[in-house]
Amino acid sequence: MPTPVILDCDPGHDDVFAIWLAAGHPALDLRAITTVGGNGRLEHTTYNARVVTELAGIAGVPISAGAGAPLVRTLAPADWIHGANALGGPVLPEPVVAADRRPAIDLIRDTIDDSAEPVTIVATGPLTNLALFVRAYPDRLPGIREIVWMGGSTGRGNVTPYAEFNAWCDPEAASIVLAGGLPFTMVGLNVTHQALVTPDVITRIDAIGNKTAAFGVELLNFFNATYEADQGMPEGPLHDPVAVALVAQPGLVTTVRTRIDVELHGAETAGATSVDLIDKLKRPPNAHVATGLDVEQFWRLVENAIRRLS
Ligand code: RIB
Ligand code: CA
Repeated sequence: MPTPVILDCDPGHDDVFAIWLAAGHPALDLRAITTVGGNGRLEHTTYNARVVTELAGIAGVPISAGAGAPLVRTLAPADWIHGANALGGPVLPEPVVAADRRPAIDLIRDTIDDSAEPVTIVATGPLTNLALFVRAYPDRLPGIREIVWMGGSTGRGNVTPYAEFNAWCDPEAASIVLAGGLPFTMVGLNVTHQALVTPDVITRIDAIGNKTAAFGVELLNFFNATYEADQGMPEGPLHDPVAVALVAQPGLVTTVRTRIDVELHGAETAGATSVDLIDKLKRPPNAHVATGLDVEQFWRLVENAIRRLS
């Protein structure tokens, strides 16, 4: 039976490939999409989610808007990577299907209530929606199989020297979700930086030849250009679908059980994910952290999912 999945995201170029992989992989059953302010303002991330689901022929998956701002901090959209509308590059076709009128936490609640088995939540943006959910509906937590988050890092950051963007956006939310006691896996930059959009990757996706692939190639070319300008990386790391791939094909991403804490107060380190890989602090473990990726198999999964879409 396919795994029921909710995807909480901030599309965002790499979030788009997370949506497409979640919808296109036969081992997954994408039940709902929720959006959050992060890469862009909420109106953009929600609009973009509608655009890329319709373009790919993904039907019957409700999309609800969630939090437009972090719990306590001010939103700082990552327009330096994703552009002013959070999906720079291609012309965006006007979506027809409206967003679901329920707020994100209510769509998550109802999706859990309607599922015969616990639901996996993959989060590829700041964890604001999930922090609000665990606070609003603690009685629904048994309906969540696990949370898999693209965020954080066991090493350096990408928005400050020590903080990764999703954690940096809303570290308080990440800390609340980590403390919630749910099975939690963090897929950080230390692994996603292996998922590089090389010329060969672009060629392989382009060769798929459908509308989704053509749109995806435009996204990847924009993403690589901004990654080179901002991070000095000519081949951008396609972070978010790695979190989806972990759920789709167990073993494709290796993980270890560990202790993760989020820095909330450091003037220079706020949003840093402190991953105690050697158990130096002897704190109880609270998560799994990704440590390795089968890169070739990952790209095969992305290609095959896009091939199944429009
Ligand atoms: O740091 C990378 C993460 O931040 C990805 O999820 C990307 O989409 C941005 O949200
Ligand atoms: Ca994202």
